[in-house]
Amino acid sequence: MSARFTVLPTPATVAEAAADRIVASARNAIRRRGRFLIALSGGSAPRLVYPLLIAPPRRDAVDWSKVEFFWGDERAVPPDDPESNYGLARRLLLDNLAGVRAESVHRMPADEPDREAAAVRHEAELGRAFALPPGGRRRPRFDLIWLGMGPDGHTASLFPGSSVLAERIRWVTTATAPRTSPVAARMTFTLPLINAARAVLFVVAGADKAAAVRSIRAGSPDLPAARVRAASTLWLLDAAAGGVSAS
Ligand code: 6PG
Repeated sequence: MSARFTVLPTPATVAEAAADRIVASARNAIRRRGRFLIALSGGSAPRLVYPLLIAPPRRDAVDWSKVEFFWGDERAVPPDDPESNYGLARRLLLDNLAGVRAESVHRMPADEPDREAAAVRHEAELGRAFALPPGGRRRPRFDLIWLGMGPDGHTASLFPGSSVLAERIRWVTTATAPRTSPVAARMTFTLPLINAARAVLFVVAGADKAAAVRSIRAGSPDLPAARVRAASTLWLLDAAAGGVSAS
């Protein structure tokens, strides 16, 4: 299925559209299957989206007790670290929503000393949530995986040149970010898991992303984010990332 791209004027309008997509996806999944399985994005884009989800009308449009929360990647830091993707969601989203069940929040344990063993355990947690045996032929099928993209075209913690990009079986692995990243040691969903999703939503803003976006829209398969091809892949871009001069 080919990716679709929507360019909106500003990061704020992109965040509004992302929040609306998340709510619509949640309502649809809960109506059809009784629950909504989402993997939240890392990075800074969620800072604009989470406040929209905890305010009316969106807050009241979803039965949050029927939502299973995961993360597409995590840094090897404790939950209270400012760099924690989980910690940001806990502070700005989960602690502000009624009905969120503790057992439905599946933090990615990237900060454990034995990160590889923790990745295997997190796969088992995914297997339980989806009633699937890890390593089996069938992969967990998230209703929505929300991703960001770095200027180098990385997504989740799948970085250019990483051997993790060649992973074909595992759902979750350890990864290492470039030295320029805030935290090098990571844990991440793999491409097979991401591409098994019913829907992937990219939320990307900023002129520093424009070159990578241009490459991906031109059909180049090189960048990690270009290899994300789920059943439905939608890119929400602001004008700067979309390479559109603000009119
Ligand atoms: C991470 C993210 C990463 C992020 C991109 C975009 O943990 O760093 O998962 O993939 O989404 O780097 O980050 P920004 O939205 O902050 O530019």
